[in-house]
Amino acid sequence: MFGFKLPEDFLIGTANSAFQSEGAADRDGKSPTIMDTYAELYAGKVPVGRLPGAGDQSGRTKPNTEDLPDRGCFFYDHYEEYIEDMAKTGQNTFRMSLSWSRIIPTGVGEVNPKGIEFYNKVIDKLLEKGITPFVDLYHWDLPQCLLDMGGFASEKFPEWFENYARVCFEAFGDRVKLWSTFNELQIFIKNGFLSGTFPPFGMDRKNAFLAAHRCILAHYRAVRLYKSMNLGGKIGAVNCFSGVTPLHMNEEDIGAVARSIENQFGWWTEPMLEGKYPQQLLRECPEIAGGMPENYQKELDELFIRMDFVGINYYVTNHATYDESKPLKARGVRNFYSAPGQMFVPYPPGLLDILQYVHNRYHGVEIYITENGCAIPNINDREKECDDPERITYIREHLRMCVRALRAGVNLKGYYYWNDADSYEAQDGYRLRFGLTWVDHKTGERVWKKSRHYYSEICKTHMVD
Ligand code: NOJ
Repeated sequence: MFGFKLPEDFLIGTANSAFQSEGAADRDGKSPTIMDTYAELYAGKVPVGRLPGAGDQSGRTKPNTEDLPDRGCFFYDHYEEYIEDMAKTGQNTFRMSLSWSRIIPTGVGEVNPKGIEFYNKVIDKLLEKGITPFVDLYHWDLPQCLLDMGGFASEKFPEWFENYARVCFEAFGDRVKLWSTFNELQIFIKNGFLSGTFPPFGMDRKNAFLAAHRCILAHYRAVRLYKSMNLGGKIGAVNCFSGVTPLHMNEEDIGAVARSIENQFGWWTEPMLEGKYPQQLLRECPEIAGGMPENYQKELDELFIRMDFVGINYYVTNHATYDESKPLKARGVRNFYSAPGQMFVPYPPGLLDILQYVHNRYHGVEIYITENGCAIPNINDREKECDDPERITYIREHLRMCVRALRAGVNLKGYYYWNDADSYEAQDGYRLRFGLTWVDHKTGERVWKKSRHYYSEICKTHMVD
């Protein structure tokens, strides 16, 4: 059967996050986040070793960008215009995140009324325009003061997070009906505690497991709290899922693929849906099992509560191969496909594979594609940048996969293109453009790219060509 039609109630829209889009990093009472500090580090303004636990950072920074999330992002002052654009696009949803340090500048203490006021205005404006807000509590921007107090690995972290979640649910829960606790836990834990490329720049497996575990406990506490408040919405988490296929068609590599998927996606999704870490992985990888915090299963059992849906961020698919020398006994091999000029090599069929995998593995769980986007390195020629055929092809091909998944019975409820307008990238500053709207990072001028016009047709008709 031909013809690609999305269901009428399908949520289709765009996404962005607080630290990547708002700007105004030190305004109206907001305290610095780890991403603000980190950006300064990139720009060479923070002395090496200033961050707690940073160790030797030589060779780990990219001192070649002066980019700061504060300069070049304009959502805080111009949210109304951004939302007007969303309304003109015809999208029925927008995924955003809240800035913890705008809402509770000390991380744990007093609430900042100006922070609440800002998000109230944004949420009200979205609703006035018929746009359903999908709100992430946390997208990588921990208040710096909380990192200084021990951060994710602290025993206190789950309590801090629950406290923050309570403030948000009480303030916005009457109008926000789709919540996510964390965005891409696996990325900020891996980068922050294993590869040493995100704050707190750690490179220690045991600490990584501890921080990861405490974030899962924090997630449970927020989900528990949300359910106990009977606000009538749904709560889930956004996890990153890169596709994995075997480098060679043999038993070893097929096993390597299974472990890679469990490691990057199951590690987070399984405790959130089933209350345990992937058992087979723990059995087959003694080095991983040996690094686990004490009493981890008891702590999971005490707090486990099933979340309502899974948010999937999908960008790439890679190969994996068996590698005896790695704790996982598997190693990723890039690149699977070829797309000259694009930062993340797109492979649309990988999205269908993932959707079917998650559907089968997690028994028909409700799914949202919370991110999927085409990154083109910065071109300062506005005319050229606004003509973006690669992005149009990207959107069409990925949405076709969504339609196929829907036809196959996958419980897919929404798709969010990443991102709404060009913004800040944690490791690349303004050197990458994902947006449907082109942004002049100096003046704030915005121009719709051709892809936004194209996407608008899809949003309005729910037809994919
Ligand atoms: C996923 C992250 O959630 C988002 O913050 C980032 O901009 C995109 N990946 C692209 O790198």
